[in-house]
Amino acid sequence: MLYTRPAVEFCLGVSPAGWCRSFFLLASAAVLAVAALPREARQLLVDYGARQQHTTSSSPPSDDSNNNKHTKTGGRDDDGIMKVKAILATVTSWGQVPHSWFIAFYLVSLFCSVFWAGQYLYDGQILRMLASSNKATREGGGESMTFSQVVLVWSLMVLQATRRIYEHIWVMKPSKAKMWVVHWLLGLGFYLAVSVSVWVQGSEAILQKLDGQRQQVDAGVPMLRTDAGVPMLRTALAVPLFFWAWTNQHKCHRQLAGLKKYSIPKGGMFDSIVCPHYTCECLIYLSLAILAAPPGRNNGSFLNQTLLCAVIFVVVNLGVTAYETRRWYEEKFGPAAIQGKWNMIPFLF
Ligand SMILES: NC(=O)c1ccc[n+]([C@@H]2O[C@H](COP(=O)([O-])OP(=O)(O)OC[C@H]3O[C@@H](n4cnc5c(N)ncnc54)[C@H](OP(=O)(O)O)[C@@H]3O)[C@@H](O)[C@H]2O)c1
Repeated sequence: MLYTRPAVEFCLGVSPAGWCRSFFLLASAAVLAVAALPREARQLLVDYGARQQHTTSSSPPSDDSNNNKHTKTGGRDDDGIMKVKAILATVTSWGQVPHSWFIAFYLVSLFCSVFWAGQYLYDGQILRMLASSNKATREGGGESMTFSQVVLVWSLMVLQATRRIYEHIWVMKPSKAKMWVVHWLLGLGFYLAVSVSVWVQGSEAILQKLDGQRQQVDAGVPMLRTDAGVPMLRTALAVPLFFWAWTNQHKCHRQLAGLKKYSIPKGGMFDSIVCPHYTCECLIYLSLAILAAPPGRNNGSFLNQTLLCAVIFVVVNLGVTAYETRRWYEEKFGPAAIQGKWNMIPFLF
């Protein structure tokens, strides 16, 4: 009892924004830890879709696997590694779900956006509780986003989820590809956390609005609107960035859907980047992090810290997948087929 108290106090002291940030950063660390595993283990854990083909087929011996050194020495090490591989293969073969289940991410995202809007409109207790708790904690009670920023970022998130649902139903080709359920659950967790992250640093503005509405109803008099609007410069920069990435991601998804069989996509952004749809995803979340940065005094910060952690997760998660995609293309079509292309981030990666 004595030992659990500090842990409980610590948990109660963490703001909802802090929980979201912790989730993104821990998930990023977990993905990086998996990425550092020997190649065959990594493939079993993270590969899905086309990339999974060589996991199950007779893949060429991997060059970066530390296992190779051990296997050559034979003996007990060899047995141990084979056992670990066999266990991983069995565990990952249990919960294989269709790649098409990605649609659940966007349904959950849209549902959560509608849920939080409903909470705001009807002065729901869950929104009030989370917003109050965020405002009360030391690190959650910093500068707040304005209410207009919350509405803007919430709307763009709805737009992204709606487009992805549309693509899943009307654009993407039917797929037999599978992925490990843990990977899918991580994705669901991401969209749940993002649905809170888009407003949680605006808790103060939301509570002011809610209290204003309550007073208005009680007193029967119109309230003065005090919202400070959106920071002009950052909005002027980030809204076009969002729509550029949003439209180009759609183009990439159309190009992928147009391929008759697994091949290297050509044309548009695919000419210089292996996974440009991932580049666009990173830019979409980066633009949201800019748009949601609390203005505050002294120009505030340039990025919303909670959404910045979401950007870190997106970059790490998709970066690992983009790297595996490159490896898969190199093995299937030869290194020359994608020579000179960036994996995901031009001039960097
Ligand atoms: N926010 C996040 O953390 C997060 C996480 C994951 C994904 N996403 C987003 O969700 C979108 C889809 O991601 P994803 O990982 O599913 O993309 P993906 O693996 O590239 O697959 C997208 C679609 O294209 C097909 N495809 C991929 N490469 C192909 C090729 N070389 N030849 C023919 N068809 C190919 C896939 O078919 P198969 O189904 O047969 O593989 C699938 O239908 C992306 O825009 C990504 O940014 C976001």
